[in-house]
Amino acid sequence: MSVWAILVAAGRGERLGLDQPKAFAKLGEDPLLAEPLRRLDESEWVDAIVVVVPSGWEEPAILLAEEVGCGKVSACVAGGIERADSVRAGLAEVPADAVAVLVHDAARPLVGDAVIARVLAPLSEGWDGAVPGLPVADTLKRVDGDGRVLETVGRDSVYAVQTPQAFPAGVLRRALAAGDAASDCAGSVEAAGGRVKVVDGDPRLLKVTTADDLARIAAWR
Ligand code: CTP
Ligand code: MG
Repeated sequence: MSVWAILVAAGRGERLGLDQPKAFAKLGEDPLLAEPLRRLDESEWVDAIVVVVPSGWEEPAILLAEEVGCGKVSACVAGGIERADSVRAGLAEVPADAVAVLVHDAARPLVGDAVIARVLAPLSEGWDGAVPGLPVADTLKRVDGDGRVLETVGRDSVYAVQTPQAFPAGVLRRALAAGDAASDCAGSVEAAGGRVKVVDGDPRLLKVTTADDLARIAAWR
């Protein structure tokens, strides 16, 4: 089966607060984007890659992909306002005969074959999607606007969800065409009635949000 990866890197990185997009922040020597690009390119599961970057950053991204020798990059396109818009822009570059799509946040640089294999496996069992998830250590409370606790959420049934997220290509196309703007692709597939499975995540798939995260991930490489 042919597996296409959509690497979404079109966010502005407001919480990181640099004067360039988060994907081009330095992780060690190289721009952050270089790390997930290299790793997806090296993956035995991934056949082709579409990179989605902020408008105006297509050229630097193509040059970077060439520099790190990513032969699987098929297209580099501008994203949109919401993450779902960026995924849609990437999906438009995925050919009709693609079987599965992996959507991955460039802000989670340390993606690897083990987690990719875990999210792809449920697709051959008929699931509409699979996502990596980590158990939540803290007790969770739902609160109102004044901070008053409304309820305690059972921690046993709650997972913190990461990317890469895998879907049959047609399932993701239909879910995103519905115009839903969930914060992750699985949310769009769920909203369209799809069955999504949580598989084991990886603490090293931490998402870069702040400068501290960048330093931590640089040390883990
Ligand atoms: N993303 C995207 N297009 C958007 C918003 C987000 O491609 N319109 C991507 C980001 O580039 C990132 C991933 O989705 O790889 C997760 O988003 P997040 O961590 O929120 O990154 P930013 O939106 O860039 O950061 P911030 O929210 O701090 O601005
Ligand atoms: Mg964001």
